[in-house]
This record gives sequence, C-alpha cells and structure tokens, in this order.
Amino acid sequence: MPGIEVHQVTEDRPDLLEALVAVRAVTDREVNPDDPPAPAEEVAPELFSEWAMVRHVGFVASVDGSPAGELGLAAEKTEENAHMVDVEWLAVDPLHRRRGVADALLRTGLGWAEDHGRSAAVLWAPTLPGGAGRAYAERCGATLRLEERCSRLPVAELDRVRQDEWLRAGRERTDGYRIVQWVGPTPEQHLEALVAAHRAMEDMPTDELDWTVPPMTPERLRSRDEVWAARGRCNVSTLALAPDGAAAGLSELQINTHRPELAGQGDTGVVADHRGHGLGRWLKAENLRLALDTEPRIRIVETYNAESNPWMLDINVAMGFRPHVGYQAFQGDVAAMRKIVG
Ligand SMILES: CC(C)(COP(=O)(O)OP(=O)(O)OC[C@H]1O[C@@H](n2cnc3c(N)ncnc32)[C@H](O)[C@@H]1OP(=O)(O)O)[C@@H](O)C(=O)NCCC(=O)NCCS
Repeated sequence: MPGIEVHQVTEDRPDLLEALVAVRAVTDREVNPDDPPAPAEEVAPELFSEWAMVRHVGFVASVDGSPAGELGLAAEKTEENAHMVDVEWLAVDPLHRRRGVADALLRTGLGWAEDHGRSAAVLWAPTLPGGAGRAYAERCGATLRLEERCSRLPVAELDRVRQDEWLRAGRERTDGYRIVQWVGPTPEQHLEALVAAHRAMEDMPTDELDWTVPPMTPERLRSRDEVWAARGRCNVSTLALAPDGAAAGLSELQINTHRPELAGQGDTGVVADHRGHGLGRWLKAENLRLALDTEPRIRIVETYNAESNPWMLDINVAMGFRPHVGYQAFQGDVAAMRKIVG
C-alpha cells in the first residue's frame, strides 16, 4: 500500500500550500490545457478565505511524500444552506490515480464537513474524456442533480459588430432605462440598488440540487467585495436602473490580477418586472466593453450557466462564447458517503 497522507492546508504551512499549488498545476491542465498555471498568490486566498456567506478549506494529499491530489471545500454560512458542503474541486494527479488518493481526501473532507454540521455534499465533476469524475461520484452514492456549461469567449473571436449593435441599441433607448458602471468595490450610493438587482438571481435554475440561492444583503455584498479584493480580483460592474430609478439588472465580471489574460464573468441578472426589454444584452455588452478598456490583456472570458437556462445561454452564444467543459453536480448524503469511502 502506498503511504498516503492528507493534510489541511493552513496559513502557517507554506510547504503544504506549495504541494497543493504543484498538484493544481497538473490537474488544472487537464481541464484548461492552454492556461498559465495558477500561482501560489492566487491559490492561497482561495483556500483561507472566509466571508459573510462562505468558508473555504483546502486539503492536500501526498503519496510517499510526493504531492498527489487536492480537495477544496466550500461551506456556506447562510441559514438556507447550512446543511450543505460543496466539494468544489477533488482531483488527483493522473500518475497517482486508482490508488485510493481521492478516497483518502474525501474521507478527511467529509469528516470536516460532519464536524461542521453538514449532512449533504455536492461533488462537482468536470465532463472529461473517460468520465472518471462521474464514475467516482456515482460510486460514492451521489446522484446527478444539475448540469452546468462552462463556456469561454476568446476575445479575439468576439463578435464586435454584434457588440456594437447591442451597445448602440442600448444607448439609443428612449424608454428611460439607464446604466451606471464602476470598477472595484461597490460605491456607497449604488449599494442598495445593486443588492436589489442581485435578488434577480434568486430564481435562476438550480434543477434538482437541494440548494437555495441565498438572498443578497448589503452586509454580504460588502463582505464579498472585501474578499474579492483580497483574492486579487478586480470587479467590473454595470447596473441598470429603471425609469423610476429602481434596480432593473446587473452584470459583473472579475479581472484576475494574478493572471490578467483570464477573466471570469460573474452574475448577470434582470429583475423579473424588467425582463424582455433587451436589458440582458445591453448589460453584458457594456460591462464587457468596460472590462476590456480597463484590462486590455484579457484574452479569455469564462462563464458558467445551467444547461437549463436557455435565456442566458442564448445571449452568451450570440456574443461568441463557446462550450469549454461541462460540470455536473452530484449530491449525496454525507453519512452514507463516509461509509463508502471508509
Ligand atoms: C475522479 C478522481 C478524483 C478519482 O481519483 P482516484 O484517486 O483515482 O480515486 P480512488 O483511487 O480513490 O478511487 C476509489 C474508487 O472510485 C472508483 N473510481 C475511481 N476512478 C474511477 C474511474 N475512472 N472509473 C470507474 N470508477 C472509478 C473505483 O470504485 C475506485 O476503487 P477501485 O480503484 O478499487 O476500483 C480522478 O480521476 C480525477 O482527478 N479526475 C479528474 C477530476 C475530477 O473528475 N474530479 C471530480 C471528482 S467528483
């Protein structure tokens, strides 16, 4: 039997962080072969960050002293989802597979989850050739609940003619809708409206996942802005306001200051009363334009959508986003999974 060891990565153990960063470089390459590897400065705040809504923890496994696998957990602190833990990234170096490394990591992670009052776990698995993630999750007794599409927009392939059309259509509107934009933390004068716009996310499709979109509050938004800044994410925001000044929608995008070529689309949502007026397209076009003006080195924008959300997928496809990889969410019972992984 190989000597498998699992440790929680803590701020006082730079050696463990270094091991996890080394594993990440290998396992991320399988999903994103063209991306530069994530540096330690990017990975560390992901593992140690805690904010008003979520606590993150990370574990690293070694085999006979060599880094072999990693596990990243996210435990929501909101009342609605206090029973759940997200297994955001469980991955093993291909050289060390089928030797029990994933089981050793999950055993430790599920122990942590139970100690923190979690009874349900969601395993996120990329749809890579060979289907190892799905096979592993199903063997752990978890069932498929949600399919997400991770899409990427290569900026060089952005449909600029269409973008300009959407910008023009928005700017020539005469129905009283307007937008405001900023880069960085939310300005005080827009906080309340942005919170209201975020609540448009509450009816996004979550399919069979036993998870509730947690309502945004001013305190949560402030805390999120702080954690993003600590993670080296520069948030670009566009807020739509209705003729009466009420929040109508939002679109957000995060510039990654550690790897400026890779940007991440954040939330885009239109408040129910204001849907069907082309605000989604306008918001996305204006926000992307501001992001590219702010950080011209952006080469790729990545976005995640539920496969059951054709409205958002249609807008993204029209902009030039193309499917990159799927992520499937499998949910199971923590106690039952612990029995299986030993
Ligand atoms: C999925 C993954 C984490 C499994 O890691 P691993 O260390 O090889 O898994 P383990 O050795 O602990 O496997 C334990 C059991 O899970 C099942 N299993 C693991 N990989 C499997 C595969 N490719 N096909 C079928 N069953 C599999 C088997 O029952 C295995 O026991 P066995 O080897 O005695 O038959 C790894 O393949 C990986 O990193 N894949 C890419 C990332 C990913 O898909 N992550 C999502 C995880 S939910």
